[in-house]
Amino acid sequence: MRLDNQQSQQIPLAQPEVGAREEELALEVLRSGRLSLGPMGERFERELAAWLGVEDAVAVSSGTTALHLGVRALGWGPGDEVLTSPFSFVASANCLLYEGAKPVFCDVDPVTLNLDPAVARSAVNARTRGILPIHIFGYPAAMPELEALAGEHGLGILEDACEAIGAVDSEGRVAGARGNLATFAFYANKQMTTGEGGMIVPSGPEAAARLRSERNQGRAADMGWLDHGGLGFNYRLSDLAAALGVAQVEKLDSLLERRATVASLYEQRLAAVEGVEVPVAARGSERRSWFVYVVRLADEVDRDATIAHLGARGIASKAYLPCIHLFPQLRELGYREGQFPVAEAASAHSLALPFFPAMSEGQVDRVCQELASALGQPARQG
Ligand SMILES: Cc1ncc(COP(=O)(O)O)c(C=O)c1O
Repeated sequence: MRLDNQQSQQIPLAQPEVGAREEELALEVLRSGRLSLGPMGERFERELAAWLGVEDAVAVSSGTTALHLGVRALGWGPGDEVLTSPFSFVASANCLLYEGAKPVFCDVDPVTLNLDPAVARSAVNARTRGILPIHIFGYPAAMPELEALAGEHGLGILEDACEAIGAVDSEGRVAGARGNLATFAFYANKQMTTGEGGMIVPSGPEAAARLRSERNQGRAADMGWLDHGGLGFNYRLSDLAAALGVAQVEKLDSLLERRATVASLYEQRLAAVEGVEVPVAARGSERRSWFVYVVRLADEVDRDATIAHLGARGIASKAYLPCIHLFPQLRELGYREGQFPVAEAASAHSLALPFFPAMSEGQVDRVCQELASALGQPARQG
């Protein structure tokens, strides 16, 4: 075991990986004078679509704006109910609120922490218009079961794949490539980053045209800058951000592989630590795309004290994730504690550990040893 000389250094929760190629392409954009909706944006869309194996992809300013345009493309609005998970990042419910649709939360599967299709089935009623599954922490949602449910009831599907680029589902298909509208996000902690940015995979050419128009103030492709065919937004991605995106797609396979390597190191090292349950990496044909490394602490462990212990030793960690049905704008719809026991228990006991592709074996060891020590277990030599 290599013991690197980093005992005193801080270990962050996440760390983007940008280098010479990002600089080169960003410089190309700066020198081109085309800073938005230029050739680099189109190239980013083409290259990400090719990587995913889909016909088309529409770049937007964030994962949240991708979700918002997806909700509009599906026509969800006032009076409509959409089945979704309470164990997510808040944007996956907010995007429904923007359009006046109601998020109907359904509890999650205790292993994958994704929307449980059996619970979703029991929540369908005459007002249900759609399903918004989230591939949480990069683990693929139960898409075949959810699509069957949608098919039976004529529901639309919007996949929130913001945390899951490269995840593979139980039918061996990559997230976002099933023909549903699907969204990706490229904030700096994601598997690939443009700083801020997002992408939406359209369900066909008509949807693509609508998305491209709505991200650009309602201008169709053949319209002048001051023409507007309908309501739109400024959800454009700058070509400078797209330059980072092109460079990141070029190395995406390697970024994902290196994240998976760090995850398997964690799994090995944490096997010896009592009171820590590691996340599932794969099941049948399903493969997680590693976004964060979130462990579940035993019920009796004091999570805040654990975070404080790690923090005092220069190791970042975070309670992950708060249940979104308990935020004020969702409580207004009547949601309360105790309604989704599986999600709430996961939320109460989960802890995100430092996780990024450049993490060294020595850093993983240090995190695991300090975690063991926080839990009152003797530090072991790795
Ligand atoms: C599941 C999920 N949905 C949506 C988003 C929103 O993406 P963004 O922060 O790019 O708006 C995120 C990003 O953190 C996310 O994790």
